Amino acid sequence: MERVLSGIRSTGNLHLGNYFGAIQNFLKLQNENDCYFFIADYHSLTTHPAPENLFENTRQVLIEYLAAGIDPEKCTLYVQSDVPEIPELYLLLNMNAYQGELERCTTFKDKVRKQPDNVNAGLLTYPVLMAADILIHRATKVPVGKDQEQHLEMARTFAKRFNFMYHTDYLIEPVAYNFGNALVKVPGLDGSGKMGKSENNAINLIDEPEVIRKKVMKAMTDGGPTVPNQPMPESIANLFAIMKIISEPDTYQFFIEQYNSCTVRYGDMKKKLAEDIIVFTTPIRERIKDISKDADYLNKVAKLGKDKARASATETISNVRKIIGFRSF
Ligand code: TYM
Repeated sequence: MERVLSGIRSTGNLHLGNYFGAIQNFLKLQNENDCYFFIADYHSLTTHPAPENLFENTRQVLIEYLAAGIDPEKCTLYVQSDVPEIPELYLLLNMNAYQGELERCTTFKDKVRKQPDNVNAGLLTYPVLMAADILIHRATKVPVGKDQEQHLEMARTFAKRFNFMYHTDYLIEPVAYNFGNALVKVPGLDGSGKMGKSENNAINLIDEPEVIRKKVMKAMTDGGPTVPNQPMPESIANLFAIMKIISEPDTYQFFIEQYNSCTVRYGDMKKKLAEDIIVFTTPIRERIKDISKDADYLNKVAKLGKDKARASATETISNVRKIIGFRSF
């Protein structure tokens, strides 16, 4: 049995990228492993959400996690800010995280480019908090999408450095995990890059069928191939990549063959893709609506998760404090 952990920021609705990059793997792992899933509400503070939205965002992500199939009876499902041991470990790890390595992190450089007016210390040390999330439960496997690979590498660096510094092997070096395969990157509908919450290119699990149809039909395409069997431009390859993830293999193969023989009609392809996405998301969307109404259930889940997560976290932090040399009077 392995210790598995993953998380998601509480900024916005879950989309297909979250599902196929991370959640699908959780679902395969949660039956037979010691699994921890959490909602990263501290991480969401880097973009300064309004106080009146903070709790609602967290609640919505919790609902969507449950609707996607995360089972709070089988795993520990909790909210990051319910576990004060995480920020304590973050503080301790920060002492051995260096400015240079944090500044070289790709996601940090991206943020500096995209939001130059809000380059705060929380953004710089984001990978340290993420390492604390993982190391606090001594998790070995972390199911995440491709975009989190570098953060996992940093978590290993911080664990290794701590162990080296204190002559111990207490902290475990975690690996980014995808069931037997390479990490997944679900592309967006805007022609390039990945599907993301803030990119305006995502299909959310909660989207109504009409919204999904509109989004897919608007996805970027071109005039179509004119020479058989040529490599695809990125925007078309992305559409096929989404189809490969969501549709039946026969459907994907059918449109690939049409592409290669220059007979593909993107309108037909998009219609089919939209319908396949709707078939996939409809049961989840319905569960989201049901679970949203059940405040008692949500309270119970969050409370249970908090207690279970703290039991594991207090043990780790107490050992880490001892290793560092803290003693009580
Ligand atoms: P976040 O909230 O951006 O995304 C949550 C999970 O979804 C995956 N993901 C994708 N996978 C494939 N294709 C995409 N287009 C795509 N978009 C998102 C992410 O890889 C992630 O697995 N820093 C994390 C949250 C976090 C965390 C952690 C994760 C905080 N602490 C500890 C794991 C372990 C984040 O911002 O993910």
